[in-house]
Amino acid sequence: MKKGLFITFEGIEGCGKSTQAKLLKNYFEKKGIDAILTLEPGGTKIGQRIREILVNPEFKGILHPITEALLYQADRNQHLKEKIIPHLEKNFVVISDRYQYSTVAYQCFGRNLDCSKIEWIFKNVVNGIEPDIVFLIDIDVETSLNRVNKRAENEKIELSRFELEHVNFHKRVRDGFLKLAKEKENFFVLNGKQSIEEIHKKIASIVEEKLSV
Ligand code: TMP
Repeated sequence: MKKGLFITFEGIEGCGKSTQAKLLKNYFEKKGIDAILTLEPGGTKIGQRIREILVNPEFKGILHPITEALLYQADRNQHLKEKIIPHLEKNFVVISDRYQYSTVAYQCFGRNLDCSKIEWIFKNVVNGIEPDIVFLIDIDVETSLNRVNKRAENEKIELSRFELEHVNFHKRVRDGFLKLAKEKENFFVLNGKQSIEEIHKKIASIVEEKLSV
């Protein structure tokens, strides 16, 4: 398999990762490098349907944690097979707004799910496709919840099923991400309270270094 560059963005709600993912896509476009920007959940047509279930506040307290974890794996499997792998094979840069580390942080840490029970599914879905770079945009939980509440107010939208979770859930998710960042060599942690431009500059310099290797 001819492999392009696989870059993913991770972080808690409102950390600014989607903004940074878009800026990075523009950065590659300006350089004339083929790149796609995609997301989880919802990077494919089938994934969009799965996403509707996953973020729907109507299912808060109903969707079983294992069902939730399996739906994320179903979305990821479709995403990998239909979009990520074919583009990496064509030597594209694939930028994904979230990937499997979100499952570890949200489902295993956030939900306190015993992920060893469904680890074989995780392994078979991801099948060794690890990101070359993971940008973890880190903010504290208070800033996160302030940002999502403000966004919902300004845009007159409902909070998602996860945004409605207790502050302790979000703390566990953040701690999960930070723990992963300590263990994994492909992680780069960025302070999400810096300006959008400052964060983008750091991301661009890390990518620049990777491209020159
Ligand atoms: P988004 O708002 O970043 O698009 O993600 C939708 C929600 O899905 C967000 O609250 C985080 C959650 N999520 C998980 O719980 N597990 C996962 O594996 C992924 C990809 C997302």
